[in-house]
Amino acid sequence: MSALLFLLILVLIVNILSVQYSYAQKSTISAVFVFGDSTVDTGNNDYIPTISRGNFPPYGKDFENHEPTGRFSNGRLVTDFVVEFVGLKKNLPPYLDPSLTIEDLMTGVCFASAGAGFDPLTSQIGMCLTQSQQLDLFKEYKVKMEAAIGKERTDDLVRRAGYLLSSGTNDFSFNYYGPLPIRRKDYPTIAQYKQFQWQLVEQFLQGLLDEGAQKIGVVGLPPIGCLPAIITLNSKSPIFGRECNETYNALARDVNQMLETNIKTLERPGTKIVYADIYTPIINMVEQKSQYGFEESHKGCCGTGLIEADFGCNPKSPLCDDVLKYVFWDAFHPTEKGYRIIFDSLKPLIQKNLA
Ligand SMILES: *[C@@H]1O[C@H](CO)[C@@H](O)[C@H](O)[C@H]1NC(C)=O
Repeated sequence: MSALLFLLILVLIVNILSVQYSYAQKSTISAVFVFGDSTVDTGNNDYIPTISRGNFPPYGKDFENHEPTGRFSNGRLVTDFVVEFVGLKKNLPPYLDPSLTIEDLMTGVCFASAGAGFDPLTSQIGMCLTQSQQLDLFKEYKVKMEAAIGKERTDDLVRRAGYLLSSGTNDFSFNYYGPLPIRRKDYPTIAQYKQFQWQLVEQFLQGLLDEGAQKIGVVGLPPIGCLPAIITLNSKSPIFGRECNETYNALARDVNQMLETNIKTLERPGTKIVYADIYTPIINMVEQKSQYGFEESHKGCCGTGLIEADFGCNPKSPLCDDVLKYVFWDAFHPTEKGYRIIFDSLKPLIQKNLA
């Protein structure tokens, strides 16, 4: 081996060690665990039989190595920025990835599944993991960790971790107001459905607390009426005069208010449950797009931008010229730049509660 090559390898090893060292040093929380839908699924749906997938181009076009990982965007998600910010690792891997090591598992994983809702029927429609299946996977995770590092260390890890829940949009867009009238029959008024939804959120959070979680963030709904596909499906003139649908936005604000108030009632001694507002940063991006350097906020970058997501946004889809000018990547999900701006707005909350 030449001296130069030896030196190069040495430099590489030192670099790798120092990266791991700096991550281990910087973090006061042990791990991050994420539950919910496509806004936070980093690729679990790649490993289950579903059509709700984003693991083909052009998804991931701006991710490391342009890899389509199953993230529903051109790049990274808010949860990736979170784990990097708190000093745990660069990106948050999906729990179902069979190649994860114990070290990967130890600093947190994602249990979310694209298409999911709080309502199990929503997840059934989306052929993905329900909230309670996601919680079951977390229980399985704990058993795995206990076998690997012992019960005491696992309990400590679980106690010192941060938990994030981000779901609910699909309950309204695909389920309650979707083509199948099942839930509208069960819960004729939206107030009744909202109440049902809260029971499900409560059940999930109680389950998480019972498993030992102490720091939980509950992410509210986005302005659903501004999602490009929702505009298209509900507007009388879906091509011209595209505007956010205020009926959906009012509903989102209403649900968010319920979440923000109600989650506090579930706190137990030593636990903290905080509400994370994503409605405000998204509506700001949509309504004041030029302030952020955006030029288009009512259409996605992929395809026509009016309706495509999942398999609708695929290798054959035309793409916008400059993704940095778009708030939305496909007709449901923000671009990496959009996610970065959402993350920036959540930073103070994360700093206060997680870092
Ligand atoms: C918003 O969506 C609802 C439900 O589809 C529809 O009844 C309403 O007309 C829409 N509003 C506008 C301004 O397009």
